[in-house]
Amino acid sequence: MKIIVTKDYQAMSRCAADLVQACVEKEPQSLVSFPGGDTPIGMLEEFVSRVNQGVIDPTGLKFVQLDDWVGIGPQDEGSCSHFVSTRLLAPMNRPFADRFLFDGSRRDTIDQQLEEQDAFIRRYGPIAVEVLGIGMNGHLGFNENGVDFSLRSHRTPLSDVTKSVQKKYFGGQDLPLTEGITQGIAQIMESELVILLANGARKAEIVSKAITGPVTNEVPASILQKHPNCVYLLDQEAASLLPKDLPGLEIR
Ligand code: GLP
Repeated sequence: MKIIVTKDYQAMSRCAADLVQACVEKEPQSLVSFPGGDTPIGMLEEFVSRVNQGVIDPTGLKFVQLDDWVGIGPQDEGSCSHFVSTRLLAPMNRPFADRFLFDGSRRDTIDQQLEEQDAFIRRYGPIAVEVLGIGMNGHLGFNENGVDFSLRSHRTPLSDVTKSVQKKYFGGQDLPLTEGITQGIAQIMESELVILLANGARKAEIVSKAITGPVTNEVPASILQKHPNCVYLLDQEAASLLPKDLPGLEIR
């Protein structure tokens, strides 16, 4: 595992876009996946700006969403599909060749959507570059504490930590959301390159546990210790509890 520590959020976001760009230049027809949440906003702005300046060509790429909340859909602010549509797809001046998004508001079709996501990844995959955030409890997508590492696309009850954090996405409102849908750890681990982004002091403890603690499904992100090509891309605050002599740590 490689750990890159950048000076701040902007530097982290630029570095993430550089890594994604290098990957898609090598594999211009490949499948990519970016997460929702606050963490990737800067990276997505960089990505979109490079697409719109003609630096990155998206027209051969396929895009698959990582995860979403059951009960809200692309029309709802705060859903991951809304985030992906407004922060990535709409502002790009040329589209991806194909894409898969969830609609969590269509509760009766959730199982079918999960099958479709898995089929989309099997068709175009493996994912060439999988960008991830990390939850306060170490979740990846909605792979919550105790998750079965062998699962592919699946639905899952939300953990108490996730439920307590979720209102930040909904203008401080507590929505009665209890379930998530997500790529599974199996699909994440099959990805050719995984880039995990984390910034800010509040992520420092879970980042340190995930990198230096035991590999356990109680901290789902710890499984990335076993990924052959994974980069933890952090700002200084998120890296503040890591030992400075950690193998694989590079300060930029
Ligand atoms: C959310 C999402 C994840 C995201 C993570 C971190 O609940 N399910 O996909 O990566 O938690 O979110 P944030 O970047 O807002 O801290």
